[in-house]
Amino acid sequence: MIGYDEERQLFHLKTEKFSYLMQVSEDGSLIHRYFGKRVEHYGLGHNPPKLDRSFSPGPFAKERTFSLDTLSLEYSSNGLGDFRTSAIELRSEAGVNLALKYQDHRQYRGKPRLPGLPSSYGNQEEVESLEIDLRDDCQDVTVTLFYYLFERANMLVRSVRVRAGARAVKLQKCLSLMLDLPARDFKIHSLTGRYAYEKERTLTKLQQGSYRISSVRGASGHAQTPFLALAAPDAGEDRGEVYSSHLVYSGNFQAFAEVGPLKTLRLGLGINDTGFAWHLAPHEEFYSPEAWISYTDAGFADMSQTSHRFIKEHLVRGTFQQELRPILLNNWEATYFDFSEEKLLALADKAREVGIELFVLDDGWFGERNSDTCSLGDWQVNSKKLPGGLKGLADELHQRGLKFGLWVEPEMISEDSDLYRQHPDWAVRAEGYAHTYSREQLVLDLSKAEVCDYLIDTLTELFKSARIDYVKWDMNRNITNIPAQFSNHEREEFHHRYMLGLYRILESLYQTFPHILFESCSGGGGRYDLGMLHYMPQTWTSDDTDAIARLSIQEGTSLIYPLITMGAHVSAVPNHQVGRITPLRTRGHVGMLGNLGYELDLTALGPKDLEEIAQQIKTYKEIRSTVQFGTFHRLETRSNNEHAYLILDEQQAVLTYIKTLAQPEAPLSQVRLKGLDPHALYTCEALGSSYYGDELMNIGLTLPYVQEDFYSLQYIFTKKGEKR
Ligand code: DGJ
Repeated sequence: MIGYDEERQLFHLKTEKFSYLMQVSEDGSLIHRYFGKRVEHYGLGHNPPKLDRSFSPGPFAKERTFSLDTLSLEYSSNGLGDFRTSAIELRSEAGVNLALKYQDHRQYRGKPRLPGLPSSYGNQEEVESLEIDLRDDCQDVTVTLFYYLFERANMLVRSVRVRAGARAVKLQKCLSLMLDLPARDFKIHSLTGRYAYEKERTLTKLQQGSYRISSVRGASGHAQTPFLALAAPDAGEDRGEVYSSHLVYSGNFQAFAEVGPLKTLRLGLGINDTGFAWHLAPHEEFYSPEAWISYTDAGFADMSQTSHRFIKEHLVRGTFQQELRPILLNNWEATYFDFSEEKLLALADKAREVGIELFVLDDGWFGERNSDTCSLGDWQVNSKKLPGGLKGLADELHQRGLKFGLWVEPEMISEDSDLYRQHPDWAVRAEGYAHTYSREQLVLDLSKAEVCDYLIDTLTELFKSARIDYVKWDMNRNITNIPAQFSNHEREEFHHRYMLGLYRILESLYQTFPHILFESCSGGGGRYDLGMLHYMPQTWTSDDTDAIARLSIQEGTSLIYPLITMGAHVSAVPNHQVGRITPLRTRGHVGMLGNLGYELDLTALGPKDLEEIAQQIKTYKEIRSTVQFGTFHRLETRSNNEHAYLILDEQQAVLTYIKTLAQPEAPLSQVRLKGLDPHALYTCEALGSSYYGDELMNIGLTLPYVQEDFYSLQYIFTKKGEKR
């Protein structure tokens, strides 16, 4: 609930778990009072002693103890006392100062959509809204801070609108979130990595200065995720305070945590201001993307589960929000570009035999595309490879009882393509500079309305041309060589205008094809973010398909994103990225920790492997609803050599355990389960035994002693009605 004490001008936002307090100060600034474990009351005794800090300037000549530099603020700019990293910067004829003073506020139930941007949603019961207007009369600018409180989901969603008055304004920075907290001995948790090595969990101790992650790639990128968490020193998987923050955006972003000289801590999240500006004509407005913050005192597991639930219930939309995701076969690592209809149908026949439900035709089906050097933009079928066209193939697959999925990479254009020959000016390039290439391809300029309209029409026609049930939307390079001026806009607007163009295309396709399951991909997890998940409920997690490498990638991903959003495929051995040979069993178990798929040549496998795959698929169908809609736990293991996970719902619990390398004289391994009903009886067929929930959670299970590299096991515990 959102409370307002008029006399004290104090806002108290309360969810089941946390309180968030703000107050208007004596100079009219909006001060941040508290964010943390829920409190019922906020009395008068919390004002810190007033100190005259010699190098902290302020607005009152005779009140030397007041400075914006020493206060916790809600949203601040530099220039009038606050020397910390700002949340907003602008420039107009009135100069560059911005003195944001409380003007007004409004409260209501429900939540409006954010214009042109992906955003969370909730009905009137689920979400309560607060809008606070801050004014600078000199600049004639109104900055509105939006607070959307999801009380039961324990999430506070924030965003910002800047509205120009009678004067034009150049906005140079506009973060979605600024959060000032007292600097405790926090560690900052982020997800870092690189191509094919995404989402490594990184914990760094905060010290005076800044920890910052950012992207200027035109995409959120493989190397960083628009997310930061602050963890108390004693925080672990199941205990301790953790503050998490997320940005719902897929383009250039920044996220930082800054400890100031007076041990204040400022967290910031928003569009990257490097190379960014937005020109507001009189009375125009700018909306920042949305940022989410949450708090728990129960560690990373609770942080992840809060985020998983919120994504599933308040971000992802459409038919597939609540539907089981099909088990797929993707032909990429099976054939790469070298396929014919005959080969695809042979793969499909095997796929059907083992119980696969969806056949995905990856790159190479269009134009003259026999390698990654050409044809992006020419979305017409290559009839040498597919004489019956897409429709013919889709019909054949449907006749075999399989759904049909198609790969596209619509944001790109090859120099060697008909589209480029017709519209060379549609590729992003700064005048006077030669193209910069990546995978020999160029980027279509989605900041141009005509290019977006063209893509909407072309893709709408394409997706209607055959029975298409699934689309994999790829994006295999980042954006460079940006024009200094484009369509009457300055260079600094390019990246955000590109994102608005992309989101417009995705929204249009989502509205026209609600039944299509979209999976987003950018060379794996190069754009695995909350922005894309609003339009596409799945993401291809990584181009590294090796089961062992995947463990840390998928585990890192699970810190924020639910398993139902992760594409996880079983591929061939030796693995195509790292050359490792792992047992099929292990590859299957790792695949089952997400949306299971297969990406290997099934026609090259012997009957034993096919039988094993059929068995895996049968098992996955039995546990699929638990994996996709249940609760996920990372379990404690002795070292990084072992990984254990539990996924559970009301009916069953699935334990997956993987030991990477065999060790001589290894100690016995044990795991303790979590989240079970302590008094319910759980039966495990594989163990031939039943256990009460409290035994599994407190005593745990001793695992088999097996001397084998890349060993894995999966135990399914069925919950029986019986209670003690
Ligand atoms: C990159 C993707 O991540 C792969 O899965 C595959 O679709 C290729 N692109 C195709 O070019």
